[in-house]
Amino acid sequence: MNVLVIEGPNINMLGIREKSTYGAMSMDEIHTMLKDHAGSTGVTLSFFQSNSEGDIITTIQKAHGTVDYIIINPAAYTHTSVGIRDALLAVNIPAVEVHLSNIFKRETFRHHSFISDIAVGVVSGFGSEGYRMALDFIIAQGRKK
Ligand code: DQA
Repeated sequence: MNVLVIEGPNINMLGIREKSTYGAMSMDEIHTMLKDHAGSTGVTLSFFQSNSEGDIITTIQKAHGTVDYIIINPAAYTHTSVGIRDALLAVNIPAVEVHLSNIFKRETFRHHSFISDIAVGVVSGFGSEGYRMALDFIIAQGRKK
């Protein structure tokens, strides 16, 4: 199973930015943790981070036909991007939405997501653990096949 992890703007700043909100792990450390976790489960992970909405949309489009699942933390674009939503709908690849912080505990502008209602599920508020939870769900889906 091919799983693409997509990270939105400022996720590359993890470990430096607002540690009390997002934790101390860097993005690369989270990705290494995911690779270790995928281990010999038959899941192949690839990773993409961009601060640009268009690049994220292009990456989702290119995933068509090759990727079985997307794990996406759209970061700030969660709350603004009809384009990322439409790209996910266009490729019809099941996506799990991940947020390190609990977006519902924060400012009201973060309470709305353009992705949640088209996602398979949402993991929010469990820090880096949330990525692992998303991956565990996908691994379990693979085992059912
Ligand atoms: C975030 C939450 C977003 O509101 C914010 O803009 C981010 C990170 C999270 O992982 O908690 O950049 O997606």
